[in-house]
Amino acid sequence: MFLQILTSLILSLPLTHAISGTGKSTRYWDCCKPSCSWPSKANVTNPVSTCDKSSNILTDASTKSGCDSGTAYMCANQIPWSVNSALSYGFAATALSGQKESDWCCGCYAVTFTSGKAKGKTMLIQSTNTGGDLADNQFDIAMPGGGLGIFDGCSSQFGGLGGSRYGGVSNRSDCDSFPPALKPGCQWRFDWFNNADNPTHQFTQIRCPSELVSKTNCRRLDDDKFPIYTPTVSVWASPTPTVVAKQWEQCDSLLWDAQAACPSGTKCVRVTDCEFFFSF
Ligand SMILES: *[C@@H]1O[C@H](CO)[C@@H](O)[C@H](O)[C@H]1NC(C)=O
Ligand SMILES: *[C@@H]1O[C@H](CO)[C@@H](O)[C@H](O)[C@H]1NC(C)=O
Repeated sequence: MFLQILTSLILSLPLTHAISGTGKSTRYWDCCKPSCSWPSKANVTNPVSTCDKSSNILTDASTKSGCDSGTAYMCANQIPWSVNSALSYGFAATALSGQKESDWCCGCYAVTFTSGKAKGKTMLIQSTNTGGDLADNQFDIAMPGGGLGIFDGCSSQFGGLGGSRYGGVSNRSDCDSFPPALKPGCQWRFDWFNNADNPTHQFTQIRCPSELVSKTNCRRLDDDKFPIYTPTVSVWASPTPTVVAKQWEQCDSLLWDAQAACPSGTKCVRVTDCEFFFSF
């Protein structure tokens, strides 16, 4: 009897546990060949596509990275894009708790933001990369103009991209100077992501949507063990303000979930490029 229960218990366990957890997101676009573009990183259909300077897919997955005096760069089609106000697709460098690169390369995750201006929005993200500087469960979301971080392939690919090395561009009009193929990914941060500044998130592994796989040409061989993601809403409800500002008081911050309610006859105006917004 005991053996029977034990056997049925083992047989009913899923083959692979869907990885889930909470963590913090960051942003980057360093133009470098993503690490999952190298051969044999994981059991996948193909390594993540990597491109030449002009975004043509390279056939040799062993081409050296443009960040290492080679000619392979991140393909411009690996930018984020929105489906509706509640859902976007994109790519990220990841480091998942208790896992290694061979576990997460080309894995897909439903990532829901739990703080900041994109709180409650969900991104379906395929992992294409990793980084030695990433913390457990960090998703470093690929968005042009998000900042280079520690590597710089953008100087050799484009003669540089605007913005600070860490943090990137500070407003939507800064995206105007970007190469046409990257511009929509830069604007996405201001249009859909609401310029959220490294929000926290919760994530769970899902079966990779074909929308993502068609951009990278990479699917994990164990991908069908993970559940298909079905969106529950198609319209994002912005968080309600929890702060009521008096005139001249701070009424917003890049880190707040929502702008404060302002006294009638006043509005919240951004004063500097830093985090200060005041009710005028
Ligand atoms: C691919 O799968 C095989 C068989 O399970 C395993 O031995 C090998 O380590 C895997 N390769 C990678 C890169 O994870
Ligand atoms: C955008 O940021 C740049 C540089 O940070 C600044 O020069 C420019 O005035 C800003 N534009 C707007 C519309 O805020």
